[in-house]
Amino acid sequence: MYFGEKVHLRALELEDLDVILENWNNLEMRQFLATAWPMSRNAERQWLERATTMDPWKDGGLVLAIEDKKNREFLGTVSFFDISKQSQSAEFGIAIHRPENFGKGYGTDTTRVMLWVGFHILGLNSIFLRTLAENERAQRAYEKAGFKKTGILRQATYMMGKFHDFVIMDVTRNEFLEECPPGTQIGEA
Ligand SMILES: CC(C)(COP(=O)(O)OP(=O)(O)OC[C@H]1O[C@@H](n2cnc3c(N)ncnc32)[C@H](O)[C@@H]1OP(=O)(O)O)[C@@H](O)C(=O)NCCC(=O)NCCS
Repeated sequence: MYFGEKVHLRALELEDLDVILENWNNLEMRQFLATAWPMSRNAERQWLERATTMDPWKDGGLVLAIEDKKNREFLGTVSFFDISKQSQSAEFGIAIHRPENFGKGYGTDTTRVMLWVGFHILGLNSIFLRTLAENERAQRAYEKAGFKKTGILRQATYMMGKFHDFVIMDVTRNEFLEECPPGTQIGEA
């Protein structure tokens, strides 16, 4: 439904459960996310059932499937959560599931498209994210997509045996619209 240069973002479907489970329980990827314990098929199905019926304004979240435009391969998911009507803001999250697909430009392109959705479809004013200070690949992708580093939360999360700082990054509507004014798209169908 939404197109970048390399990816296509679409609604998640219950049929995505198998492909999600193939790669989700993988510490190489999950060490960068808040939940690095194994998820059962049952837990993942319940999550997917919620995600497939989510309404951004009623439920405060939106989760989309990321697909490769070339071959429709399922690459991962991208989301907004804690969407606030009052402040027109949301937190951003993304996971490309297979480590073989890291560093191929999918994350940068997906982030650009999701920012386009946030500002042009949802009408948000500010989008922010938290990422592990050590996650330089993520920060580089986010910067290329338009996020700026705005702060640090010190020792804010525990992962792989130690506490880590979170880097905070955000982008405002005005900044994004300078690059992508109304009427522009990120990619073509
Ligand atoms: C973080 C993530 C979304 C980035 O997407 P991606 O498709 O891998 O990233 P891209 O290829 O678009 O861009 C990565 C950039 O970082 C660079 N990079 C790659 N590995 C790097 C590393 N280990 N250290 C520093 N930079 C790195 C790449 O060269 C590229 O920059 P360039 O285009 O200027 O050369 C993806 O890797 C991912 O989902 N990882 C696992 C889960 C995760 O970390 N989620 C984010 C939690 S906040």
